[in-house]
Amino acid sequence: MNDRVQRLVAWLTASQVYRSIFRHEYVDSVRNRVTQVTSNVFLHLHPVSIPRSGLKLNFTFCLGGLSFFLFIVETVTGVLLMFYYRPVPDYAYVDMKTLEFAVQFGIVLRNLHRWAAHLMVITVMLHMLRVFLTGSYRPPREFNWVVGVQLLVFTLLLSFTGYLLPWDQLAFWAVTVGTNMAAATPFIGAEGPFHGLLNITPANDARFLLLGDFRVGANALLRFYVLHCVGIPLVAGVLMMVHFWRVRKDGGISRPL
Ligand code: HEM
Repeated sequence: MNDRVQRLVAWLTASQVYRSIFRHEYVDSVRNRVTQVTSNVFLHLHPVSIPRSGLKLNFTFCLGGLSFFLFIVETVTGVLLMFYYRPVPDYAYVDMKTLEFAVQFGIVLRNLHRWAAHLMVITVMLHMLRVFLTGSYRPPREFNWVVGVQLLVFTLLLSFTGYLLPWDQLAFWAVTVGTNMAAATPFIGAEGPFHGLLNITPANDARFLLLGDFRVGANALLRFYVLHCVGIPLVAGVLMMVHFWRVRKDGGISRPL
């Protein structure tokens, strides 16, 4: 490097803007690899070291990683689907058919979203089974098991709320049956046991909260759409961040016994 370039680099790296972004200098020491990783937001997502057993495919089958990958596939294809879909009874079904038959690769987009959703439910359940069979729910990982159970519930809720959106007969009646079950919830369902204790009626019970009405209709479609596209993915995303952070804080992947 000639003198002028060297002075320019020195001036740049000493500037406040540069130092506010890159907080560490590159010091060539035994810790240089660790420092590079821990001071970089993207590299920091990976642990500095992992036990050799953590790399064994047949201990985890990467089922948690696959579940996360499918969640990303759902997010990307879901956002693309939102460009073609209107959550209104007059349009919802027609929009899905237009997407399938008039939009280039529309049928591929819809099926990617649908099959990845089915697969995600399967991989999350298998991941839970793997964690159980390897005893990875035991201390210090019991908190992460509880976070995992919540992730399972939110994965199922994503599936359930998405089911109504095509607005066909299958969707309509499946959600009618599902939300009728909510009316039988103890305490907060108008047909459930102990509903009298809290003065619960069909106009203020759990089913009414879900549907915004007494039966599946325009209000339910809009509620399910907002929950499916915004509410549940946001909560699930935050829970996943906590879940991954805890895997690291609990000492990385558990080891084979
Ligand atoms: C959306 C759902 C989920 C995602 C994306 C997810 C993701 C992950 C990932 C990437 C790991 C690292 C190890 C691996 O790949 O197996 C992991 C570990 C773990 N997960 Fe999940 N998970 C989910 C649901 C669950 C559920 C339903 C449970 C249990 C009820 C659970 C409990 C755990 C526990 C205890 C660990 C630590 C396991 C160990 O150290 O061996 N997770 N999860």
